[in-house]
Amino acid sequence: MAFTGPVAPTPFRLFPALLACTLALLIGGCAAQQQSADGSPTPARTSVPTGGSPGAGPTSTRATTTSTSSATAPAQVDCRKKKCVALTFDDGPGPLTEGLLDTLVKENVPATFFLVGNMIKQHPGVARRIASTPGMTIADHTVSHPMLTKLGAAAVKREIVGNTRLIRNVTGVSPRFLRPPYGLHHARVDDVARRQGQAVVLWSAAALDWQYDKPAKIVSVTMPQLAPGAIVLAHDIHPWTVKAVPTLITKIRAKGYTLVSLDDILGGHPKAGLTYARGEH
Ligand code: NI
Repeated sequence: MAFTGPVAPTPFRLFPALLACTLALLIGGCAAQQQSADGSPTPARTSVPTGGSPGAGPTSTRATTTSTSSATAPAQVDCRKKKCVALTFDDGPGPLTEGLLDTLVKENVPATFFLVGNMIKQHPGVARRIASTPGMTIADHTVSHPMLTKLGAAAVKREIVGNTRLIRNVTGVSPRFLRPPYGLHHARVDDVARRQGQAVVLWSAAALDWQYDKPAKIVSVTMPQLAPGAIVLAHDIHPWTVKAVPTLITKIRAKGYTLVSLDDILGGHPKAGLTYARGEH
């Protein structure tokens, strides 16, 4: 399902919050968190440190100086002049993430990884490898992947602030993007995100990889949803998704799109606390 609303950057505040949440729920982002067939453990709720997190300013999450690979960062792209698409991967880091990274590096494709805190605790080295790979952006997907709209204020804060701190402690980068699980958010979530210096980023094209488990299907479902400025939602916890990515990259490029980072697709100026579902074009 592609968003057909105003072009971007499109602060979702232009839409009624209820519509935003309903749309996101219909699209069903991350709905297969408990259905992973690759043996990835489902993030479980655990306690995290409470309290605010000072100094969570808009530090760049782009890793360009600490890479252990020989790859170079993809060049910055002006998405007002080119047809841009951004790939995003949720719910990791997991056992399959490094294979995906190898593909992305080989193809010189930037991507954003929305990391779940409980997965970071299990795979801290993978989180660090994402951080040290040029062109990759690390972002916040909460500690335990709850429906934030069902939580009280303190719990919402723990989920977002706790994961922000964990990401910073493990990788050294401060995430500037939050994707609320299932795309569910409201004013309280947005306010915590704003205080952490994070823009709320949803998506405009869903790979539906929680629904389909064949790489060819992932590709055929995703392609028709693309439009200039598209933000693609996929999950690096599924083997069929990781297998689909090389073909997906080839087909996206064959349609004349340039694969870019979230920073580029949002014009380089995403605002903390505002919600974006697609980029500018
Ligand atoms: Ni998710």
